[in-house]
Amino acid sequence: MTDTPAERFSCTVRPPPDGEGADGADAPLPPNTLPIGRKRRVEVDFPVRADKPVLLEMVARGVTALDVGCRGGGCGVCRVQVIEGRYETQRMSKRHVSDDELADGYALSCRLLARSDLVVRPDPSTR
Ligand code: FES
Repeated sequence: MTDTPAERFSCTVRPPPDGEGADGADAPLPPNTLPIGRKRRVEVDFPVRADKPVLLEMVARGVTALDVGCRGGGCGVCRVQVIEGRYETQRMSKRHVSDDELADGYALSCRLLARSDLVVRPDPSTR
């Protein structure tokens, strides 16, 4: 028996427009957080599998485009806004993404599954 290969897409992490997110970029972070993405000012692309959350794919590929924290939906530092593309989210705390924010495309990238090529923007206003 052979496994069906997971669909593959690409994820583009686009920096916020100049001047946006500057306050959040300096916000205090939870312990054990790698603030590797919040001050990045260049666009980064990496491949993602449909069956693996975007943040975990990024880490596995050694890409440093988004902040990395708990990797399990608990800290909120990996919050992004999806600008383009289709996706699903795994269970997320409303503390980090409210229903209104979810409707506006916000998600935790460690709970974000691509269903097409994605373009996301880090949301350094993470609380
Ligand atoms: S890394 Fe902590 S919520 Fe995603």
